[in-house]
Amino acid sequence: MLALKEEDHQTITEPRTMRSLSTDREERNSSALFLVSPGSLHSPAGPSVGGLRMAQEFTHQSVLLEEVVTEFDPVPSGLIVDATVGAGGHAWAILNRRPDIMVIGIDRDAAARKAATERLAPFAGRFSLVASRFSDIAAAVQRGREQLASSAPVVGILADLGVSSPQLDHGHRGFSFNADAPLDMRMDPDHDATAAQLLETISLDELTQLLRDNGEAKYARRLATVMLAGKPQTTSDLVDLVDGAIPKGDRRRGHVASRVFQALRIAVNQELDELAALLEVSLSILTPGGRLEVISYHSGEDAMVKHTMREWELGGCTCPATLPCVCGATSKGRCVTRRAVVASASEIERNPRSRSARLRTFEVAS
Ligand SMILES: C[S@@+](CC[C@H](N)C(=O)[O-])C[C@H]1O[C@@H](n2cnc3c(N)ncnc32)[C@H](O)[C@@H]1O
Repeated sequence: MLALKEEDHQTITEPRTMRSLSTDREERNSSALFLVSPGSLHSPAGPSVGGLRMAQEFTHQSVLLEEVVTEFDPVPSGLIVDATVGAGGHAWAILNRRPDIMVIGIDRDAAARKAATERLAPFAGRFSLVASRFSDIAAAVQRGREQLASSAPVVGILADLGVSSPQLDHGHRGFSFNADAPLDMRMDPDHDATAAQLLETISLDELTQLLRDNGEAKYARRLATVMLAGKPQTTSDLVDLVDGAIPKGDRRRGHVASRVFQALRIAVNQELDELAALLEVSLSILTPGGRLEVISYHSGEDAMVKHTMREWELGGCTCPATLPCVCGATSKGRCVTRRAVVASASEIERNPRSRSARLRTFEVAS
């Protein structure tokens, strides 16, 4: 197993300006596409079909790539479930590094599944793809197993939360405040209400709380009031309403709008409920010694992951932390990452989205 070296990052594009996925702001990005070096964890950035144009259409730089793959090193042979397969970057690196592993990729976004299918085609027979969501993961794993005709144990689950670059970059989907489009924001257009529809039904208190939870404490009430009154139907409508509600002096370009868009996206896609559903069933899917890895990009998500993993480790123990356990609680495993793993300075330089990433890993007791 080979470690990722700096020289593996051979840039084939000029430094350019890209939008940060965590903030949707313009940031300088020093590299977007990589060549594959022998032993590199990086696949070509996009599918080979269609060449560079295709790659640019659906390029997503996987965050904490080496860390994610390395944390799966101790797991035995079997199946790894990539519950957020996206453009297939993490799945590619796992399959490339571990010939004894098969991957079931899950995503609720059809565009992501198309990209993953193309990118992971070289691993046919070891990779299966399922259209599903966290809240139906047990059934999705069963479907993936059937496609692979495998009864191997599930030795790993990966969830790289949030939104992918293409979801933001395809302006018509309404995720980005930088492109005028209907105010949609659904990862799966067959489910859920659009952001515009959500704003027709949500109460003032609920919307205020949603904005506060996303760090917009100062103007949450004021923003919620104008958003409900204005009934925005497009991303531009919403940006105008937000701009109009914030005093000029506090209007750093895109700053407030990025939080408002993130808050709405999380609500439209029920991202916190979905994460809770994933955490609830993960341990029943994993085999003893298996690992769950979660990358969060938002403090609310990270807090949920951290507290759940800690609870699992303690097994519901009620004894004072300074004394040995006498209450009979049984630990479900251990937190592998005492503190969340974060991106290195060089990764943040290459990929500004990684700045907010927090990786936590839990290992099920053997
Ligand atoms: C950050 S991207 C994953 C990128 C991927 N790890 C890679 O390396 O290319 C997150 C993906 O998860 C998907 N997703 C988010 N929430 C989901 C859920 N609850 N169920 C299924 N897929 C979900 C999104 O559609 C998106 O494609």
